[in-house]
Amino acid sequence: MYLGIDIGTSAVKVVCTDVDQILASASVNLETSSPQPGWSEQNPEIWWRATCEALQKLNSAISLKDVKAIGLSGQMHGAVLLDAKLRPIRPAILWNDSRATHECEDLRETLPKIGLIAGVLPLPGFTAPKIAWLRRHEPENHARIAHVLLPKDYIGLRLHGEVATDTSDAAGTLWLDQAARDWSLQVAKATHVRPNWLPPIFDGHQIVGTVMSQAASETGLQAGTHVVAGGGDAATGAISLGATEPGRGFISLGTSGQLFVSDHDYKPNPERYVHAFAHTLPDRWYQMAAMLNGARPISWIGGLLGLSPAEVVALAETAKGDRTPIFLPYLTGERSPHGNPHVRAGFFGMEDATTRAEVCRAVVESISFCFADAAESFGDTIKNLPDLTAIGGGSRSNLLLKLIAAATDKPITRAAGSDSGPAFGAARLAACGQGALSIRDLAVQPAQVDRFVPEATPMLLDRLSRFRSLYTSVSTMT
Ligand code: XUL
Repeated sequence: MYLGIDIGTSAVKVVCTDVDQILASASVNLETSSPQPGWSEQNPEIWWRATCEALQKLNSAISLKDVKAIGLSGQMHGAVLLDAKLRPIRPAILWNDSRATHECEDLRETLPKIGLIAGVLPLPGFTAPKIAWLRRHEPENHARIAHVLLPKDYIGLRLHGEVATDTSDAAGTLWLDQAARDWSLQVAKATHVRPNWLPPIFDGHQIVGTVMSQAASETGLQAGTHVVAGGGDAATGAISLGATEPGRGFISLGTSGQLFVSDHDYKPNPERYVHAFAHTLPDRWYQMAAMLNGARPISWIGGLLGLSPAEVVALAETAKGDRTPIFLPYLTGERSPHGNPHVRAGFFGMEDATTRAEVCRAVVESISFCFADAAESFGDTIKNLPDLTAIGGGSRSNLLLKLIAAATDKPITRAAGSDSGPAFGAARLAACGQGALSIRDLAVQPAQVDRFVPEATPMLLDRLSRFRSLYTSVSTMT
């Protein structure tokens, strides 16, 4: 058996697989704190505690002692700052934190070619500007930094004691020279980072270490079990679907949203905020539009209305559409394709007669509009793909997948086990590291269980164009 651990933003998810089948899974929810507007933080210790708890749950379904290798996956870009004794200096600053806007402007000025080196233009969610922010605003913490890790790497550290990362998570920091697949000393210097703070980089299927006895007693895992490097959640989501070869694409509908296409070449397109990042497997890169709000607006509106995400979608199905308001879902700003950390969400066209169903419909529909914008920013790359497979919690909703198919004019499919994507991908990397799967086997795609063909109505297209005009008007105010 192989174990995948995914340190998500809203939950830690663990899955056990028999090479290619999910045998059991468990999850434990996580809270995010926002001590100031635009800030988003989590304490690395809560990731470890949630991982131990999720593994205990899993242990009641299968025996963790039978796990042969472990793979890691996690939310990307978060800054986990450790002192010389490998202790967190402060809470991790997450991918959807927008405090470091000035530092991004500085970086664009000092290093105008950064977009070509790092595969994307600086935005506050990435790791590097956060360190520059810390130097200015928390110099005492900056002075204590000895290591910078990504969220899943902290769990690796707790499991095997090594400081390490993988290529795909390194790719999301802005410090990676994507073409060379190694740290860029130029970017490190421009963000006041000492090269020895940055961890060694592994391929996702490479074994980094083995479970230490302390970790074994806290988790129920067998001491000595191999742990592979794993990947950022975009890359592990890709591995779950066989998106390792050119032209394989998918969409992810989690707390964040992603539109992802794999490639054998590095193809930067920084002006449209399409990220060109190194994949977690050797000689592979990918292009990705990353939407900060993904399917999160559904649980956000559900929280306000006292509804579960499934109830929000069910209510949205009952709305007629013609008097539905337009919703801009930018609760935490937006990355692709706008690169705008300042924009915020809003409803437009609310009437005295607006119903809860119409509000829910507007929220669900807005997610499909973000994917339409993302698809447009890729140009022909998306037009040439036969279809896109959906993963993540939002992929459970037929309505959402139908709307995305219509708004992007692309068939959307659903595969078995699609809501455990990144954790499953991490388990597949573990199986590969242990020799049970080859890199070629990782390209095998799971069977499709549903397919949604594009059926755009004139009303939907009209609403998409009003959504775009509304963003244009609102963005000039921020
Ligand atoms: C990708 C991104 C998010 C996070 C959290 O660029 O920011 O997908 O990895 O899921």
